[in-house]
Amino acid sequence: MNEKIVWHKISESRHELFSDSQGLTEVAVNGREICISVINEKLYACAAKCPHAGGRMAEGYVDPLGNIVCPLHRYKFSVENGRNTSGEGYFLKTFLIEERKEGVFVGIEEKKGLFGL
Ligand code: FES
Repeated sequence: MNEKIVWHKISESRHELFSDSQGLTEVAVNGREICISVINEKLYACAAKCPHAGGRMAEGYVDPLGNIVCPLHRYKFSVENGRNTSGEGYFLKTFLIEERKEGVFVGIEEKKGLFGL
């Protein structure tokens, strides 16, 4: 395996992340744009852009079943595993996210350097 998970701190707390009650926001992590959502009190992280045609997921909404819905054409994705639950055959990249006492962290797979470090 040539990848390892690198954890990046994105905020001091979940309250700092969400300025409104929508429960969706966007952050930049190590050059990537990531959408953060809070659904039933749990945090999730996925790609900021929809795999269909680049809609900004943070401008969409979360449906009653807990799917994130793209604002452009309303395709739905599971925030747990990125599955395209409305059936168009796309896949939304998801990331690990953890809330720790030092803050909120997103885990990103990064290629190992020379010598596997
Ligand atoms: S761009 Fe997201 S559904 Fe089309």
